[in-house]
Amino acid sequence: MLEVKQVVKNFGGLTALNKVHMRVSQSEILGLIGPNGSGKTTLFNVICGFYQATSGQVIFDGRNITNLKAHQIAQLGISRVFQSPTQFSALSVLDNVFTGYHMSYKTKIWKRLFRIPEALREERTFKRNALEILDFAGLNSLKNEMAGNLSYGDQRILGVCISLATKPKLLLLDEPVAGMSPMERSNMVNLIHQIRDQGITILIVEHDMKTIINLCDRLVCLRSGEIISEGLPQEVCSDECVIEAYLGNTECNSNAA
Ligand SMILES: Nc1ncnc2c1ncn2[C@@H]1O[C@H](COP(=O)(O)OP(=O)(O)O)[C@@H](O)[C@H]1O
Ligand SMILES: [Mg+2]
Repeated sequence: MLEVKQVVKNFGGLTALNKVHMRVSQSEILGLIGPNGSGKTTLFNVICGFYQATSGQVIFDGRNITNLKAHQIAQLGISRVFQSPTQFSALSVLDNVFTGYHMSYKTKIWKRLFRIPEALREERTFKRNALEILDFAGLNSLKNEMAGNLSYGDQRILGVCISLATKPKLLLLDEPVAGMSPMERSNMVNLIHQIRDQGITILIVEHDMKTIINLCDRLVCLRSGEIISEGLPQEVCSDECVIEAYLGNTECNSNAA
């Protein structure tokens, strides 16, 4: 589904990604780990077109997307959920999800402006879909609430809902459980599993090792822009190089055991 081929990303003299090569299969949850500054966010940015790779290729669904613009990549089905809640706090929860559909309109803008039946039909479909997403994510009872009034955990779940409205095939999640309470964390983990069960592929950067181990089918560990280990979560977490580079202690080992 996604293939990153020998991707290099330089910032001036600094090599943030050095020949990164990896594959993600359909419906897989792949975790990207590594110490601060190892290139995780840069790799996300290259995949979703925010950064241009210096060399190498990104292949998505059999198509070379390396030189496409971010909005073109989004239209092909890659959606990135941001670390900070990015929704519009003065809009209702439902309207926030509704904004996720802005890319999906097939009716021409003038038909929408003049509220031609065809446009109204499309809008009704989007509203129905948005409600289904909120139902799916457990936010249905909060649909009329202003987004700004939601708890931190629910705001982050809303962020995922907005991404789901773009009908992604691949979802990129940057630290989805950072700053959450144990309860919120387990809600988010459940939601991510449910999303995968719908056939959506998930690439995730997360520092919380317990969550990573519960969540991911496979891990890739970066250090200084290079992949130093990949495999099953337990394998990667017990890999000496990884422990040395990133964990620095045996916390991950004991969780994996
Ligand atoms: N826009 C940028 N300009 C210059 N250097 C950058 C930029 N983005 C990231 N870097 C550098 O690239 C390296 C990898 O950063 P990053 O991908 O953010 O790491 P991580 O997400 O793993 O913490 C770091 O040395 C960082 O300083
Ligand atoms: Mg980062």
